[in-house]
Order: sequence, then structure tokens, then C-alpha cells
Amino acid sequence: MRLFEALVPLKNHLALQKHTTLGLVPTMGALHNGHLALVERAVNQNDLVVVTIFVNPTQFDNANDLNAYPKTLDQDLEKLSLFGEKVVVYAPEVEDLYPETTKSEVYDFGELEKTMEGGSRKGHFQGVATIVEKLLRSFMPTKAYFGEKDYQQLAIIHALVKQKELPIQIVNCPIIREADGLAMSSRNTRLTPKQRAIAPQVYQALLQAKEKKGRFSIEEIIDEARHFFHQSPDFELDYFCIADATSLQPLYGKKIEQEARAFIAVKLGEIRLIDNVKF
Ligand code: PAJ
Repeated sequence: MRLFEALVPLKNHLALQKHTTLGLVPTMGALHNGHLALVERAVNQNDLVVVTIFVNPTQFDNANDLNAYPKTLDQDLEKLSLFGEKVVVYAPEVEDLYPETTKSEVYDFGELEKTMEGGSRKGHFQGVATIVEKLLRSFMPTKAYFGEKDYQQLAIIHALVKQKELPIQIVNCPIIREADGLAMSSRNTRLTPKQRAIAPQVYQALLQAKEKKGRFSIEEIIDEARHFFHQSPDFELDYFCIADATSLQPLYGKKIEQEARAFIAVKLGEIRLIDNVKF
């Protein structure tokens, strides 16, 4: 496994490696088994795989969150080395990807970016689209891999690739969970032991909502979830939403005819957790 900190030598290296397919796995590091599942899939489906490790400043609306983002490059490289020679790592400084200004490009994703994470984190998806477009254009991979853990991000990336007519296949990968159901996340390492013990309730709330499907209206299901988190002093519910799986627009009533997903964002102290399930 080779490590590059700059794009130009990395692209020169790739040009010299015989390959017909290239996989791209963008990450912000602090790698866990959720990330590694994406890498494994990319390794199985491509001749060469670029894993990027870059904490992208333009997608953070909160300087504290950006500064507190865990950085564990040595451990990340150790985990990636298990995949052998097929994997090449790109872990640059900010200047390599933002040579002039650290600013987002401007995109119009319409309603897709106005709900949920887009509503709660101003400019977040403009920043995500900016860095993902830079990475996609830099490597022009055959396939790029993203997790359903960030389901709205995936929807935005599908829209980005379509708008920019990029000939790249976006591969959706399922959410990898801890044994107790908590969705794996780099932010989980910042939870206190007490917070970590109750964090699986986030997934439980999604499963309970799903279990009520068809018997209760969406409004009733959401009310119940709100009530549950309102009662618990440790959690602060940001949103609980049941939405169309493609448009991400909220659904109402009892009879759901389209494919739907339930989404949640909560704060446990300073740590914001998100999760979703097929509804
Ligand atoms: P990051 O949070 O590091 O996640 C990198 C990729 O791993 C994303 O596609 C994310 O959805 C996926 N992922 C994270 N946890 C997962 C889990 N438990 N199961 C399955 N997949 C999981 O998402 C980002 O970074 C950034 O926004 C990025 C796309 C790299 C742009 O900066």
C-alpha cells in the first residue's frame, strides 16, 4: 500500500500501474469497519483503489466540530495496509485540494438539500459536493463508493454526478453497525461511556417506528419518537423524519405506497449522531 500527500505524484503513479478499472473511496479518516467495508467492496470490484483521507473544511459549519474531528492517520494506514498493493492512499494537506481559497462551489440541488442535514447544517452539502466533485474529477474512477449511513449525502452525490454528466458509477453501500445496533461512526469515539451505553437507543427508535408502519399514521409515529427523546435528558432530538427514499421529501398519513426511509439526528452532549433505516 502506497501513501501520497500530493495529487500530481499520485496521478503519475496511477498512470504507470496497469489497470482497467479504478475504485474511489472518499473518507475523512478515523477509519472503522464501516469505511473498511467500502474499501473491501472497491478492492473486490476494481484493479486499483484510491482511498482518500481528508477532513474537508468546507463541509463543517462548526469550527469546534472541525477541530475536534478525530485524526488517526497511523492507525488508518495500518488498517488499509491489510488490503495489500491494490490500495493507494491519498492523504493531503488542505492546500493540495484547495490551492487558492477554502471555499465551496455553488450548486443547486433543489429540495434535496433543504431537509434534514441540509436544514440543520448550513452549507454542509455545498461543501460535500465541492470536495466530492474535486475528487471525482481528479481521479475519474470507474466506480466511487459511499455509505447509506449518510443517505442524504448519497442522494446529493447521485444528483451531482447527473448534473455534471460525470461517467462514474456511484455504488451505495449498506450501513455497518456495532453488535448493539449503533451505526459505526468516527464520532462514536468521542462519546463518554455513559453516552455510548445509551447511544443504541437511536437505532432502537428507528426500529420501533418501522414496527408501527401501517398501524399508525406517520404523524403518530413521529410524535411517539419525539416523546421518547423528550423524556430522556441525555438526548436532544434534532429531527425524526419519514421520507420518500428518492426525493427525501417527508411523507404523511398511514398508507405509504412508495419506497420510504426513516431518518434521525440526535445530539448526545456535544456529539451529533445520525442514522436511518429502510421503512
Ligand atoms: P466519512 O464520514 O469519513 O465517511 C466516508 C464514507 O464512509 C461515507 O460514504 C460514509 O457514508 C461511509 N460510512 C461511514 N460510516 C459508515 C457505516 N457505519 N456504514 C457504512 N458506511 C459508512 O462522509 C464523509 O466522510 C465525507 O462527507 C466525504 C464523503 C468523505 C466528503 O468529505
